[in-house]
Amino acid sequence: MRDRYMRNIDYARISVTDLCNLRCIYCMPEGYIAKNYKSLNLSEIDNIINALVGLGVKKIRITGGEPLLREDIIEIIYGIRKYSEIQDIGITTNGTLLSAYAEKLKGAGLNRVNVSLDSLKKDVYKVITGGSLSEVLNGIEHCIELGMKVKINMVPIRGINDNEIMDFINLTENQDIDVRFIELMPLGPGINYLGMSSDVIKGLIKNLTPVGKEQNSGGPSEVYRITGYKGRVGFISPISHSFCATCNRLRITSDGKLKTCLHSRDEIDLVPVIHNIELLKNKIAEGILEKEKEHRLNIDNISNSIREMVRIGG
Ligand code: GTP
Ligand code: 5AD
Ligand code: SF4
Repeated sequence: MRDRYMRNIDYARISVTDLCNLRCIYCMPEGYIAKNYKSLNLSEIDNIINALVGLGVKKIRITGGEPLLREDIIEIIYGIRKYSEIQDIGITTNGTLLSAYAEKLKGAGLNRVNVSLDSLKKDVYKVITGGSLSEVLNGIEHCIELGMKVKINMVPIRGINDNEIMDFINLTENQDIDVRFIELMPLGPGINYLGMSSDVIKGLIKNLTPVGKEQNSGGPSEVYRITGYKGRVGFISPISHSFCATCNRLRITSDGKLKTCLHSRDEIDLVPVIHNIELLKNKIAEGILEKEKEHRLNIDNISNSIREMVRIGG
């Protein structure tokens, strides 16, 4: 379905839990307590997918918190798989549980995994996330061995991991993976840190060549390759190069709210109609027609979202 600005909304990001086993400094507020008891169950998620498919959604991304904390995550993926209209299912994960889940995820038909990884140094990783780097690296390796497509999402933060850009670039030398640098957005505790603009990062890298359209998934990322390297380097630049004009996505939170923009204040509660596919479809369609033209990060310098990133899923 198209919105008021003729954007074809065919991609939904569904957060399946607001629990996370990490504590990234820019994502989760101090003292955050997850409200997991409210998360949608399997059949509620199925109804939402059913309604989304009826509105023309063709791509689903499962997010969190950390989606692999859901005990029924494999069933959720199977449930989505049964819709032949869905051409692409991905998951965005912090990677800590990937080693344990990679085979099952692959078995359920998932072949694309985006992993958040902000440092390749054990101590710095610990400072940013509180977690263990080796678990994530093992998980990534496992996925690659299984032939899954892996994208690494890295958020450079001034004074913390901004000296690791080339280390991340070098990961693409011999492996067919994507490394994407994301500009830190002023949302939740993200306001306490300074990110890096994509242009500054590009200035540090030699031999960047844009890749053709077929290798760019059509998402917000601008994709390049270093001449001679196997993998790709992407830039997600919500601050310096807003991609709102081509935004094709909706977000559903784990407690059943529709967010038409990552940064919107307003949320539409789908729970009252969750057991009726037609009403659900109508409610989501109303939301699509209200989808905002663009975010105002550059004007307000802060996101309008009242929901923290951990409860949106990126
Ligand atoms: P692909 O399907 O592989 O293209 O994934 P994706 O880039 O759509 O999903 P992913 O979860 O890996 O997104 C990476 C990050 O990009 C998110 O966590 C956000 O920080 C940012 N991002 C994704 N979509 C949007 C968006 O619509 N608006 C803004 N401002 N940022 C976004
Ligand atoms: N700005 C940019 N990216 C963020 N993420 C979390 N908070 C922010 C923010 N304020 C990213 C994480 C992860 C993805 C789900 O969202 O690093 O890669
Ligand atoms: Fe958890 Fe992801 Fe937030 Fe880190 S960025 S605390 S991994 S939800």
